[in-house]
Amino acid sequence: MTSKGILKIACVLGLGVMLTACRGQLSEKPPIHPNMNMDQQERKEAQEVNKFFDDNRSMRQPVPGTIARGLKKDDTAYYEGVDAQGNWIAENPVELTKSFLYRGQERYDIFCTPCHGGTGDGKGIIMTGGYGYVPAPTYHSDRLREATDGELYSAIYNGVRTMPSYATQIPVEDRWAIVAYIRALQASQNVDESEMNNYDVDLAALQQEYRDEQDRLAALAEARAKEDAPEATPELGEQLVTQNGCIACHNIDGAAGGIGPTWKDLFGFDAEVVTDSGERMTITVDEEYLRESIINPAVKKRVGYEQGVMIAYDYLADHEIDAIVAYIKSLSDN
Ligand code: HEC
Ligand code: HEC
Repeated sequence: MTSKGILKIACVLGLGVMLTACRGQLSEKPPIHPNMNMDQQERKEAQEVNKFFDDNRSMRQPVPGTIARGLKKDDTAYYEGVDAQGNWIAENPVELTKSFLYRGQERYDIFCTPCHGGTGDGKGIIMTGGYGYVPAPTYHSDRLREATDGELYSAIYNGVRTMPSYATQIPVEDRWAIVAYIRALQASQNVDESEMNNYDVDLAALQQEYRDEQDRLAALAEARAKEDAPEATPELGEQLVTQNGCIACHNIDGAAGGIGPTWKDLFGFDAEVVTDSGERMTITVDEEYLRESIINPAVKKRVGYEQGVMIAYDYLADHEIDAIVAYIKSLSDN
C-alpha cells in the first residue's frame, strides 16, 4: 500500500472516531482526563473540621499582624472622621476643589435631598408628604453650623439616631465631598443682606420666591391633613408614635433609664420641669402640657432629662397630636 493510501485510511478512521464522539449522547462516565494537573483535590466546606491543623479549623485566620493589601485603614481622620483620641476632626481631610464640590452636590442630590431638601432645610419631598417620617433637621441651625466636619461625616458613616448609615452606598471620598457640599449649602443660606448686594441678583424677588414656596408647602401640608382626618383615638395615637419613632426614646412600661421620660402614668403626674428661661417648677401633666411637649419640647424640660434630644414635632397635624395625647392618657390610671 502506498503512503497516500495509508493516510486516506487514517483520515476515514479519524473522522469515524470524531463523529461517534459527537453524537450528543449523555454519559454517566467521567470524561477522560489524561493529564490531572491537580484539577481534582480534596477541599473543605466552610466551618468544616481540618485535622491537619492544631486548632482543627479549615477556615484559616490571617497571620497575626497582617493586613490584606488595600485594607489598611489606620487613617481614622479620613475613614471615620475622628482623631486618634476619638474626637471629631474639625476640617475635611480632602483638599477642596471645585470638581470635588460638584461631586458632593451630585451625590447629595441623589442620596440626601429626598429627606433633607435641596437647600438642606429638612423639607425634602418625603418630609412634606405627611407620610409620618421622623423629620430631618435643617442644616441651617446654629448647632449644625457649628458642628465639626467630622460630625457631619459621622452622620453619613455611622448614621445618627433614627437616620441610618449610608456607608454601604456612599464610598469614603464621596462622603467627604457631601460634607463639603453641606458646608456650601450652609454658607449659601446664611448670607447677610448687605453681602447679597455684592451679587447681581434681585433680592426682593428671591425673598418673595422663598415666601411663596413656604406658603405652598404649608398649604399642601394643611390640605393633606384635612383631606381625611380620622378620629383622634388612642389606637391612632399608638400607631403614630410607632411611625414617628417616639418609642426609640420613650417607653410605656415605666422602666427607668430611657432617653426620654416614660409615658406610663405620666398623665396627671406631678412633674418637676425647668423652663427655657431656667426656672424650676412643678406642674401637673395635663393635655395642654403634653401638647406643648410634643410641639415645642424645649419650653419645659423634665428635670433629669434636660440634656435629651427631642425635636419639635410641629409638623404633626392637630388631629394627630390629639390622638397621641389620647394615647398617652390611656397609659395612665390617674
Ligand atoms: C430617609 C430620610 C433621610 C435621608 C435620605 C438622609 N437623612 Fe440625614 N437625617 C434624617 C433624619 C430623620 C435625621 C434626624 C434623626 C433623628 O433625630 O433621629 C437626620 C439627621 C442628619 C444629620 C444630623 C443632624 C443632627 O441633628 O445632628 C446629618 C448631618 C444628616 N442627617 C446628614 C445627611 C446626609 C449627608 C444625607 C445623605 C447622605 C442624609 N442625611 C440622608 C433623615 C434622612
Ligand atoms: C430622640 C429621643 C426622643 C424622641 C424620638 C422623642 N422624644 Fe419626647 N422627649 C425626649 C426627652 C429627652 C424628653 C425630656 C426633655 C423635655 O421635656 O423636653 C422628652 C419629653 C417628652 C414629653 C414630655 C414628658 C415629660 O415627662 O415632661 C412628651 C409628652 C414627649 N416627649 C412626647 C414625645 C412624642 C409624642 C414623640 C414622638 C412624636 C417623642 N416624644 C419623641 C426624647 C425624645
